[in-house]
Amino acid sequence: MEKIISLAKRRGFVYPSSEIYGGFSGVYDYGPFGVELESNLKAQWWRKMVYERDDIVGLDSSIFMNPKIWEASGHTKGFSDPLAECKECNTRIRVDKALEEIGVFADEKMEEKEIDKIFKENIDKIKCIKCGGQDFTDVKKFNLLVKSNLGDFTNDNSDPAYLRGETCQGIYVNYKNVLDSMHLKLPFGIAQIGKAFRNEISPRQFIFRGREFEQMEMQYFTRPENEMSEFEKLREYRWNAILDLGINEENLRWKQHENLVFYAKDAYDIEYKFPWGFDELEGVHARGNYDLTAHSKGCGKQLDYFDQESGERFIPHIIESSTGVGRLVFAILAEAYTEDELGGNTRVYLKFKPQIAPVKAAVFPLMKNKPELVEKARGVYSALKKEIPQIMWDDNGNVGKRYRRQDEIGTPYCITIDFDTLENDTVTVRDRDTGEQERMVITELIGYIKNAIK
Ligand code: GAP
Repeated sequence: MEKIISLAKRRGFVYPSSEIYGGFSGVYDYGPFGVELESNLKAQWWRKMVYERDDIVGLDSSIFMNPKIWEASGHTKGFSDPLAECKECNTRIRVDKALEEIGVFADEKMEEKEIDKIFKENIDKIKCIKCGGQDFTDVKKFNLLVKSNLGDFTNDNSDPAYLRGETCQGIYVNYKNVLDSMHLKLPFGIAQIGKAFRNEISPRQFIFRGREFEQMEMQYFTRPENEMSEFEKLREYRWNAILDLGINEENLRWKQHENLVFYAKDAYDIEYKFPWGFDELEGVHARGNYDLTAHSKGCGKQLDYFDQESGERFIPHIIESSTGVGRLVFAILAEAYTEDELGGNTRVYLKFKPQIAPVKAAVFPLMKNKPELVEKARGVYSALKKEIPQIMWDDNGNVGKRYRRQDEIGTPYCITIDFDTLENDTVTVRDRDTGEQERMVITELIGYIKNAIK
């Protein structure tokens, strides 16, 4: 964990937010390579969920929405985590997670009193994460919605606008719009990528649990009787999509929810083996017709579907897949982090699949004080960059140091322009994983790299 966090910061993947002002809990910034990695993962998700599917369309709904949406969805009342405060040092802990760590089950769906009882029964095994104390306040449920003062010109904030706590509510409230403008037939899905905000009690574990994060969610609308068969198809589809990113199947597992919310038909998490153990990467849930029914009641409008063939009217059931971009970035970093021996030295490298690597190839002039080499290398660099945007120029330090740096950011290929290049238009292409080099004519380079990242 420490090695990944330190590499992520040193090499420009993830920085703690507001660091020069002492930081800001639960928020992170993505650096130059982090933003490329993130954007490759989002592009892959969009390709799988929208471009490769004739039955799914995209959406980009707003972060601010009418506050009634969060009432209708149940978030203003029920979207909370159990909290207790250490009486010694005032550190707040998330009680369900503290119980989970000692193997006791409790979750946020239980009543406050019930969780408090379980907490007190196990208090001798729970310690404050900061001071080690064991004297805690009673358990209270803490609502996770983040309030804003948008439009509150009287400063009483009696009806606050929230920053959205999940992106899918924007999908539900646009279901009719999308249906009408696209003339879709069931089953169909709506996919969206966007920021979400939660007042997490103890944001920890790096970018795993943040207060500001990004979600990639797809809501799939089905006939009631097809909900569970579509659910099984979606589970398989999402599992394979994650494997496609280069995650080893041994590091993934399904976890079925033990305690379903009353409306859910079934719910699974895809868990990844993070440095502390298996934990949730993505959720795949069968939600019945709860969401559209709740919004139909909340807004007083019909949100049903008319089946022209059978003449029936009904509220579609929904299955969803929901994953956090930050969690996926973390899983991909953890999966790619590799230490080995190369040329008698230990090295660290990120073994990204070329498709998701933030830099596909780096171009080096062998020496930066030889204008003829630099000019030739610039020509190769520009030609590649026109075709493949994620190409990097690197002339800093000796070639060995450049290899090490590129290994640490996971660049699959390093291309060196040397004196032979000036003679015969060939370059060396060094493979990240094996460290082996081959000579290649310049005209083959674009095809070679394009093929690797296809
Ligand atoms: N619409 C369903 C929903 O939001 P969720 O289990 O609360 O369900 C779905 O969240 C996914 O969003 C999680 O599997 C995780 O990947 C991501 N996620 C949730 N809370 C997060 C947080 N505080 N920080 C980072 N990612 C988070």
